[in-house]
Amino acid sequence: MYCHVTFFLFALISRVTSMELPSYITACSRNDPNLNDCALKTAKESIHQFSLGDENRHLPPLDPVFVEEITIYIPNETGLKIVFKENYFHGLSGMQIKGLKFDFNKKTISAEAMVNLEVANKYDLSGKIMLVPLKSNGDSSIKLKNADLRIKMWYEHVTGSDGKIHWNITKHEIKYDVERAYFRLENLLGDKNIGDQINNLLNELWKEIVNKVGPTICLSLSSAVVKNLGVFLEQVSFEELFPE
Ligand SMILES: *[C@@H]1O[C@H](CO)[C@@H](O)[C@H](O)[C@H]1NC(C)=O
Ligand SMILES: *[C@@H]1O[C@H](CO)[C@@H](O)[C@H](O)[C@H]1NC(C)=O
Repeated sequence: MYCHVTFFLFALISRVTSMELPSYITACSRNDPNLNDCALKTAKESIHQFSLGDENRHLPPLDPVFVEEITIYIPNETGLKIVFKENYFHGLSGMQIKGLKFDFNKKTISAEAMVNLEVANKYDLSGKIMLVPLKSNGDSSIKLKNADLRIKMWYEHVTGSDGKIHWNITKHEIKYDVERAYFRLENLLGDKNIGDQINNLLNELWKEIVNKVGPTICLSLSSAVVKNLGVFLEQVSFEELFPE
């Protein structure tokens, strides 16, 4: 008599803690007098692949980056309130790295990148324009042309589970400039005339709006990038990234 026993195998999802450099990243010698040039070249070559994510390394894709909600008031809280929901930021995979500097003494990484971002989202508009109450919602889009991002990261040396030295990013800050922003809210109040007027207003005020939404957007984007970088640095040791 046969007795069939079925074993349910539960896949244990464990974080990969030690891996070699992926094929798309070339190591630079830490003694190379032109280390930053080497690193910049590598970064330029690998950023596209890196931004696509890598399931085997537990790196989610960075294109798009999702931001749940962004709220703005025009010109202030007594006026119009626009909530942009379900924001998908597309474009990081086309990011152009302009500069990259490692400072092993101060333990900092500084990077500069230029990117064009397109956001597909939904809007929820309410409030008043010239005392007229308005309420509308629908699809919308935002374009940020030539966003220049300057990011600085601080790291410390930690001993990984492989017994080797790894970099742990402890904090980061980001500064940005945007050449131009474009906004488009579809089907505003079901009235093309009013819709065009509000869209024109938004596009006239683009600088102010970017000042309002910029910090949220930048923090979301840089956090997504730094998070992936952190996971990556847990897997790859300093020795492997920058051999002697
Ligand atoms: C909001 O903006 C309106 C229109 O520019 C202005 O009259 C009002 O004083 C502002 N209110 C606040 C609280 O800033
Ligand atoms: C890495 O840095 C973060 C933030 O400072 C800290 O919470 C974490 O414990 C550090 N990781 C290790 C392995 O030391």
